[in-house]
Parts: sequence; structure tokens; C-alpha cells
Amino acid sequence: MFLKDQELISALNEQINKEFYSAYLYLSMAAYADSMGLSGFASWLEKQAKEELEHGMKIYKYLQDRDARVALDAVEKPKAEWSSIVEVFEDALEHEFKVTESINKLMDLAVQKKEYATISFLQWFIDEQVEEEKSFKEILDILKSADNLQRVVSQLDRELAKRGKGG
Ligand code: FEO
Repeated sequence: MFLKDQELISALNEQINKEFYSAYLYLSMAAYADSMGLSGFASWLEKQAKEELEHGMKIYKYLQDRDARVALDAVEKPKAEWSSIVEVFEDALEHEFKVTESINKLMDLAVQKKEYATISFLQWFIDEQVEEEKSFKEILDILKSADNLQRVVSQLDRELAKRGKGG
């Protein structure tokens, strides 16, 4: 059965926009990290930005599979400057909490509408948000617990460069 519920279609379209904004925000954070000489952090954040584009595209394709209209909106301008790499990860984790809230609201709507295919589709996003929050929190915890921030940032920068290379 095709997806006809306009409220749900609009909410899914809004989520595409939020995922693309996430990509933009993480790319902006990557550019900041790069400007600070932290190429490992930059590379990790660039990969995160690509994942966010994939999240948006998953919803884009889902709407098309259900014969519903994709409607793209303007992507908000992301923040461009931070006071430190610690602040970047504080902002990123806060942002992921907001995304989780948004996904939960979408799920609430799908349940309320008894839209079972969308409930099943959204389950992947619910699970993904657990991973997203965890990966940002892990990095933030290391940064915050460091007694020698300079040294830990350098070590982490080397570690994070390995994302997507089996590390
Ligand atoms: Fe697509 Fe990081 O949530």
C-alpha cells in the first residue's frame, strides 16, 4: 500500500532536511578541525557527514518506494567557529540528542497513524541513534577526562584518522 498520509509524508521530508543539515554541520566542524591542524578529527567528521547524507537518502528513497512526494527545503547555514575541539564534540552530542528526539517524534506519529511499514522503516533510525550518541559521547569523555588535553588531542587525532580504514 502506498503512503498517503500527508502529515507523515511532511514529517519524513523534514527529517531528510535534518539529516542533510547534520551533514552540513559535521562538514563545518571538519573544516574547523582541519583549520586547527587536526586532520584526524577532520577526516572522522567528514566520514560522519557522509553518513548523514546516507541517512537523508534512505528517507528520500523510502518516500519514493512508497509513491510519496519528496519535497526538499533549504538547508540551514551551520555554525562555523568553535572555541576548541572539545566544544565541537559538546555541540555534536547535543545535536545528536535533538536528532534522536526528532526520530522518536516521527516514530510516535507513525504509531499513532498505525503506519506499520513506516514503523518498521524507522526502527533502523532508532537503533542508529544509539550508536550515534555513543560514538560522540566516547570521544567527548576522552577529551573531558584528559589531564593533558594537548597530548590526548594529538593521540586521538591519530586514532580518528583510522575511521573507515579498519580502525
Ligand atoms: Fe543521522 Fe547522526 O543522525
